[in-house]
Amino acid sequence: MNQDNKTKKAPTSAQKPLRSAQWFGTQDKNGFMYRSWMKNQGIPEHHFQGKPIIGICNTWSELTPCNSHFRELAESVRRGILEAGGVPVEFPVFSNGESNLRPSAMLTRNLAAMDVEESIRGNPIDGVVLLVGCDKTTPALVMGAASCDLPTIVVTGGPMLNGKHKGKDVGSGTLVWRMSEDYKAGKISLQEFMDAEADMSRSTGTCNTMGTASTMACMVESLGLSLPQNAAIPAVDARRKTLAYISGMRIVEMVQQDLRISQLLTRESLINAIRTNAAIGGSTNAVIHLKAIAARMELPLTLEDWQTYGQQIPTLVNLQPSGQFLMEDFYYAGGLPAVLKRLGDAGLLYKDCLTANGKTLWENNQQAPCYNDDVIRTIDNPLCSNGGICILRGNLAPRGAVLKPSAASPHLMKHRGRAIVFDSFDHYKERIMDDALDVDANSVMVLKNCGPKGYPGMPEVGNMGLPPKLLRAGITDMVRISDARMSGTAFGTVVLHVAPEAQEFGPLAAVEDGDWIALDTDAGSLELEVSAAEISARLDTLRQQKTHKKTGGYLQLYIEHVMQADEGCDFDFLVGCRGADVPGHSH
Ligand code: FES
Repeated sequence: MNQDNKTKKAPTSAQKPLRSAQWFGTQDKNGFMYRSWMKNQGIPEHHFQGKPIIGICNTWSELTPCNSHFRELAESVRRGILEAGGVPVEFPVFSNGESNLRPSAMLTRNLAAMDVEESIRGNPIDGVVLLVGCDKTTPALVMGAASCDLPTIVVTGGPMLNGKHKGKDVGSGTLVWRMSEDYKAGKISLQEFMDAEADMSRSTGTCNTMGTASTMACMVESLGLSLPQNAAIPAVDARRKTLAYISGMRIVEMVQQDLRISQLLTRESLINAIRTNAAIGGSTNAVIHLKAIAARMELPLTLEDWQTYGQQIPTLVNLQPSGQFLMEDFYYAGGLPAVLKRLGDAGLLYKDCLTANGKTLWENNQQAPCYNDDVIRTIDNPLCSNGGICILRGNLAPRGAVLKPSAASPHLMKHRGRAIVFDSFDHYKERIMDDALDVDANSVMVLKNCGPKGYPGMPEVGNMGLPPKLLRAGITDMVRISDARMSGTAFGTVVLHVAPEAQEFGPLAAVEDGDWIALDTDAGSLELEVSAAEISARLDTLRQQKTHKKTGGYLQLYIEHVMQADEGCDFDFLVGCRGADVPGHSH
């Protein structure tokens, strides 16, 4: 690996005419029309005379509570753009919020990405600021922007303040999982369970654990797509607005330098992100989203890369759900720059990757201080020594599956048990409350038909709750296997993203109650102890039983074109960078 510290400088000046001049730069009928309609907003003539037009791509929505402060945040970006001599133009895109949207915000990630791509390409903008926050809004906007390849900078909304329940810090999501298990086990009352709702979510912002939103914010920062400290500043901290303001100023310079997202998103920066994900104890969802982002930029990225570059990396960040603290603590301890410094000092970064501020990743982070070694551990005192996402393969997952070691139970990392099978999530809900269910602590819970096409939308149900009778007996974890995803705020020995999914007749579809399954995370194996001939015969039977039903609408487009988890779940026709030229456009 090239880990030298030579400085890779951004281009210094823009020789090219502004892209927006194709709309506003002509003194003819077309220029008249483009300018005239924009002037109905009170925009003065001099704003059309060679100033960079900067799009602010906003995922604000009151139905996406994690992004509900984005009108204010956009205002800070706008002021920065104006100060730097640009012209801000804010536009909305589909806001796929995690907490409300059914059946899963993952179902609409690609819809949002299409919206973003076409909004950027079709409009007179020279550069774009992506306002992201809640889980899927980050990959959706980066995917769409990558396919256009204009100068792009990401501003994240920031995490909520620490939750406070009965005098203790509590984390978003993670508290829900724990308290609902406690309630089912009879350890707490319904009133206590419900009282915790307001305690958990004390301010606007994203989940305050190292869930998917925080993970993707760290991915963005490690990829160099944002300014330093973008990941962790709390949503309501004034420094978040300052970062937004400076980002607004910076995007104008990026346009002037013609510094495009393709210069930041590289094979090397993706490997930095994989290593960062291990160091932060990040969400398994990053595996899917980074693959989709890489494919938009036409960069190779495989599950083996997670194995090769990530698996041996120690988890340094002691945040829930793997550890103890929350994002607010992470920021006060030094934030992601402190983590990147520790990785860089250990020779685990491509240091010369270019970032949005025009400096290299190492120039930005080599002096970063750490103020709390318990929140951000040192390399020789990690939270978990092999913290990277574990990639599993075997006859049960020929195209791979993932497990998050830092959230799993060490005693279950090598395990053999009998399958207890749920054909769908509804089937799981029907069966799980039955105390007569033939299941014990050694059983392996298998959930089918929750993959990209199966559910559809690959919901975060892979961390299915344990049978109540086992919870009451004090069991806190069991091996669970599915083609679903898991919330980044969740924990447990949970095998996810099994590919091919059951709906596509992957071997997962063939598992029956009582089959033996062997998991070995050291060996990276996941085996169904059933002969190949028997698996094949069971799958043939299932194929004969399959009925095809057309759903219509977006759902039909999704089912017909979504790819499997190992391919990033993008639509097959959206892969690639199509650039910013408008097809067939002429004046
Ligand atoms: Fe929006 Fe967690 S639900 S970030």
